[in-house]
Amino acid sequence: MARRRQIYEGKAKVLFEGPEPGTLVQYFKDDATAFNNKKRGTITGKGVLNNRISEYLMLRLGEIGVPTHFVRRLNMREQLVREVEIIPLEVVVRNVAAGSLAQRFGLSEGTPLPRCIVEWYFKSDALNDPMVSEEHITAFGWATTQDLDEMMSLALRINDFLCGLFLGVGIRLVDFKIEFGRLYNGDDMQIVLADEISPDSCRLWDIRTGDKMDKDRFRRDLGGVEEAYQEVARRLGILPEGGPRDLKGPALMQ
Ligand SMILES: Nc1ncnc2c1ncn2[C@@H]1O[C@H](COP(=O)(O)OP(=O)(O)O)[C@@H](O)[C@H]1O
Ligand SMILES: [Mg+2]
Repeated sequence: MARRRQIYEGKAKVLFEGPEPGTLVQYFKDDATAFNNKKRGTITGKGVLNNRISEYLMLRLGEIGVPTHFVRRLNMREQLVREVEIIPLEVVVRNVAAGSLAQRFGLSEGTPLPRCIVEWYFKSDALNDPMVSEEHITAFGWATTQDLDEMMSLALRINDFLCGLFLGVGIRLVDFKIEFGRLYNGDDMQIVLADEISPDSCRLWDIRTGDKMDKDRFRRDLGGVEEAYQEVARRLGILPEGGPRDLKGPALMQ
């Protein structure tokens, strides 16, 4: 797609200038990274699946009134989004102890949390995405207290909705990471959900077996990474019953 100007190349996606002002094209790559880029690899077909899964989840969230950057999917690996001013925070919502939370507090993975916990991390690869408090966020001007209230309330709505949606297809939503951006419309500013929601940014465990169906399979060399992403898509009804048969086939081409 040489006709578009590339704006940014990240770890999992490339951003191109969109067809109209104020829009961007997100191109989903198969590249996978973990532990802040120390581990790198490729998950074949991941970009195609994450494009589809993120489209699906953003559309469903849009239907319940959560504002998102998503406009429409363009093809197998690209989606059109509204360009936003990204708030430099990774907002993590947790329902079950896993990953860094389990480590920091000595909890065994899988311990249900007494209530869901929202955490803020400063988005900076150079600093290793340090965890920050609301004090840091407002003092350094990354977001105002009003922005924080809005992000908190959106994050909780998103969590409630996605927990139910995944539960309906036999998946436990253990935790996830989201990003928000500011969308300006004249004098108005709206905070919208941006970036992506996919098995790269969520922990998803099979309700029955406890099997991991997300990027932890890559992080921990568990194998079956492609299959796990495909299974998430299949359960969400994005892949045909026959399964991944052909990622290049008509089902994903539309
Ligand atoms: N609607 C948007 N407008 C502007 N930037 C966005 C939008 N959605 C996501 N982004 C940014 O685009 C980048 C997506 O590429 P990714 O590979 O995930 O990057 P990174 O390596 O920084 O995580 C992220 O930095 C994300 O913050
Ligand atoms: Mg990213």
